[in-house]
Amino acid sequence: MKIAILPGDGIGTEIVAQAVRVLGCLDLKFETETAAVGGAAYEAHGHPLPEATLKLAKEADAVLFGAVGDWKYDKLERALRPEQAILGLRKNLGLFANFRPAICYEQLTHASSLKPELVAGLDILIIRELTGDIYFGQPRGRREAPDGAFKGAPEAFDTMRYSRPEIERIAHVAFQAARKRNRKVTSVDKANVLETFQFWKDVVTEVHAQYPDVELEHMYVDNAAMQLVKAPKKFDVLVTGNMFGDILSDEAAMLTGSIGMLPSASLNEFGRGLYEPSHGSAPDIAGKDLANPLATILSVAMMLRFSLNQPEAADRIESAVRSVLAAGVRTADIWSDGCTKVGTRAMGDAVVAALSGTTTKIITKS
Ligand code: IPM
Ligand code: MG
Repeated sequence: MKIAILPGDGIGTEIVAQAVRVLGCLDLKFETETAAVGGAAYEAHGHPLPEATLKLAKEADAVLFGAVGDWKYDKLERALRPEQAILGLRKNLGLFANFRPAICYEQLTHASSLKPELVAGLDILIIRELTGDIYFGQPRGRREAPDGAFKGAPEAFDTMRYSRPEIERIAHVAFQAARKRNRKVTSVDKANVLETFQFWKDVVTEVHAQYPDVELEHMYVDNAAMQLVKAPKKFDVLVTGNMFGDILSDEAAMLTGSIGMLPSASLNEFGRGLYEPSHGSAPDIAGKDLANPLATILSVAMMLRFSLNQPEAADRIESAVRSVLAAGVRTADIWSDGCTKVGTRAMGDAVVAALSGTTTKIITKS
């Protein structure tokens, strides 16, 4: 099994390093190969997604991705910005199904900005369509407004679009995922305003006929944003488009206390996948040994389960993370009174120690 390791920018290198250590102590044989991506690749090779990196990602059985982006690249033309690397990987590998679980770990109930009783035991799954919608829709660009009140003025435009097969396949993924959980799917749309999402709603409803054992509800995206902070535990699986999914998954992440806890998987139709933390590159804390590596470590667990057929190893990682949290070991983002504050590397040490059944001397951060 070959794993492509793409650390990227900012905290990406630090968190991926800890995840790779965790991979290394599982008694499984993997071949790993590291390549540059994002701003780091732009610096080294003049492009955020060099040919060689894309080739490696395509050949590998799975991709472990850190994060990309830095404000210093904001002035670059769009095609050279770090974000194009992740968008290009998603498109080129056909990674249309993005799984973003939001789980509130018992020990972190108090780290959430919501009342503990609202989030205690929270376990929801956002399934975001990842290769369509306004993110990729053509045409897009700048032009002179062809009509309207400001005809002739400079304007910019993007195109929101979804085809029937794109909606059908993500709907199947959502209903099948719900069958392994609490059998409820909430499809999030904006059918009251947008043609694209009226179509989305119609197609999801049609696909649902094949899943009579799963409950389907439809919800407008504005209401979904509200319900997520009002009564998040009422959800089981949420399925939505690329743009709404981007926004709602950040919102859901914060319910759990820290976005630093949330892994994600992006899968194609063959089950191949890219695994990355749900958070970004956080350039402000990069290189300071402050970042929480748990989202990336938990992404490795998802990789073992979804792409590498090693469910026991995935379980081992997840229980190691739980035991580390139970022992009160916390990076700054999830720290609370009475706990031990550690840096990125020491958090990795703690997980590695939990996996090998030993304890480690924790280096505390002041
Ligand atoms: C995400 C990120 C990306 C997105 C950016 C980095 C392009 O926000 O994975 O949620 O918008 O999809
Ligand atoms: Mg996002």
